Amino acid sequence: MHDTLLLFGATGDLAQRYLFPSLLRLMGDGLLPEGFRVRALALSPHDTDKFRGILRERFASLSHYTPTAEQVEAFLERVDYRSVDMRTPASVADAVRDLADRPCVSYLSIPPGLYMSTCEGLALGGAFAAPSRLMLEKPIGADLASAREINATIGRLIDEDRIFRIDHYLGKAAVQNLLALRFGNALLEAVWNRNYIDSVHILVSESEGVDGRNSYYARSGALRDMVQSHILQLLCLVAMEPPASLEADRIRDEKVKVLRALRPFCAKEARRHSVRGRYTAGTINGEPVQAYSPPDDSDVETFVGVTAHIDNWRWAGVPFHLCTGKRMADRSTVVTVTLKPVTHWLFERPDRSNAVPNRLTFRLQPQEDIELGLMSSLAGPEWGTLELQPLELELSSETGQNRRIAYERLFLDAFHGNHALFVRNDEVEAAWAWIDSVVDAWREDNSPLQPYPAGSWGPEDATVFLPERFDAVARPSRDGR
Ligand code: BG6
Repeated sequence: MHDTLLLFGATGDLAQRYLFPSLLRLMGDGLLPEGFRVRALALSPHDTDKFRGILRERFASLSHYTPTAEQVEAFLERVDYRSVDMRTPASVADAVRDLADRPCVSYLSIPPGLYMSTCEGLALGGAFAAPSRLMLEKPIGADLASAREINATIGRLIDEDRIFRIDHYLGKAAVQNLLALRFGNALLEAVWNRNYIDSVHILVSESEGVDGRNSYYARSGALRDMVQSHILQLLCLVAMEPPASLEADRIRDEKVKVLRALRPFCAKEARRHSVRGRYTAGTINGEPVQAYSPPDDSDVETFVGVTAHIDNWRWAGVPFHLCTGKRMADRSTVVTVTLKPVTHWLFERPDRSNAVPNRLTFRLQPQEDIELGLMSSLAGPEWGTLELQPLELELSSETGQNRRIAYERLFLDAFHGNHALFVRNDEVEAAWAWIDSVVDAWREDNSPLQPYPAGSWGPEDATVFLPERFDAVARPSRDGR
């Protein structure tokens, strides 16, 4: 196994919050190779001692894992730090050349504008010699043209089968469970198509704001930051055809087909099929929070609701409502599949005023569970009548406990060379092609930014993009049996 990690962007938020803690835990669990070491690289002029001190402090405040002092020190001994200017390939080459004889995994947790110069430096310094590998954080570029340029340039320096593009949602056990549920249960496949499914909602709401990431976010916004990656990946897992096997490229082939079948968005329909929003001041968990005010009067959105259509046999005519926002009422990742109504209604209230469509809800975050909304009978108001009411079946999975966080899983898979949870070059480009069509439609339509107060569920016009919340449905009483 590869035993050396070159971690670029080592002082950044992602590295400090997730990457180093994940490596520490993997090492504590004995899952990294004997001679494993990390070279931390960033622009700051630290030395190794100073950087180890920063990590030591960070490790003392982990919330999901409490390492022992011995584990922390054993890990820190394996970390060294180099200051590097990633804009200059020669600086990158100098910072890694002494490790050229070891099989390395280079991890870029840096702005995508630095990917090409950093990779040129890695190639120059010998860090791309086979079997060395490369892990790239999202986003790959900011649109289709820049993603193509990055993929092409990097592809000339290192083979695609040694590149691991990260979408950390794929590393979440709850997200992988979508595949397990879809393809491990005959029950679902039978109804998983346009004949039975009315609509699909995919919601990723966050109560966190943009704080601390202003310069990145002001150029990106919710559509590029969340929909291009995490939400389209969830859409792929819901919509893809069964792969022939779990081999990485069989899964990725099916995902690419879904992305290529996305109907390009058009300006004429932009207002009916999308909403852009930005949060104003409000309250989250009783605490006042400020409005988002991006630098340079950027027109960027912190909320997006958009309806996608997949033009293929399985999904023709089924809307996929995609929605994400910062500073919303709650943190929640939910996929809701709503079925069509029964064709003929036999029961009380012929106008079906009490009928709720069958609904399958996969909650992926913060807790993991599945709910199935059915209609069930209760004793009728009069003898001889049959009246129905909604019934929710809840399947909470205990498996959420002690699951590895996404980055632990992704590191292990990349070290072992398993690509199944990583995004292929054509997949990234197909996702950007659709996102570009939305951006172009917004520009042509001059789509306005609608305000929403922090702590709400987004702009008023956005309700169609939100799944109906099961909480709103009265829980059926069991007394009626
Ligand atoms: C990142 C986005 O990729 O995912 C962030 O850049 C977002 O804006 C984050 O907050 C959400 O990830 P998670 O795992 O907290 O749902």
